[in-house]
Amino acid sequence: MAQRVLVINGPNLNRLGSREPEIYGTLSYSDLTSAVLEKALELGLEADIRQSNSESEIIDWLHLAAESKLPVIMNPAAFTHYSYAIADACAMLVEPLIEVHISNPGAREEFRHHSVVTPSATGVIAGFGVDSYLLALHALSRLLLSKA
Ligand code: DQA
Repeated sequence: MAQRVLVINGPNLNRLGSREPEIYGTLSYSDLTSAVLEKALELGLEADIRQSNSESEIIDWLHLAAESKLPVIMNPAAFTHYSYAIADACAMLVEPLIEVHISNPGAREEFRHHSVVTPSATGVIAGFGVDSYLLALHALSRLLLSKA
């Protein structure tokens, strides 16, 4: 059976395609989900992709991942920079957590330079557009193989 992975997307990512295309590109959120599903399938993973603008919903999904021992690929979007509640939920995860960003926050405004999620992340992939998610799936599949 394919290993399930939760792919969690934070606020405003549902607006991909129309949201600041010069920064986030022109692919839509539905293009993103199709690319992730396809790559996951290719790697023998089952991607359960979710997006929310609500901090509490994201925290509930992280609790589910902790309880069900699921690996997580997450783009926490703006919550990356200030949500201690999401950071605390990430600290409870028992399987790998890969933090992804479409842009490279380190090369942008000062407030984006700090991530409260990174201390709980296995690794961070940022700056490769939608490919950041595909690279994260690759990294996760290699991690899971090395642990099997
Ligand atoms: C982002 C970077 C964040 O700083 C920003 O708030 C986002 C998207 C990215 O994917 O590049 O919403 O996480």
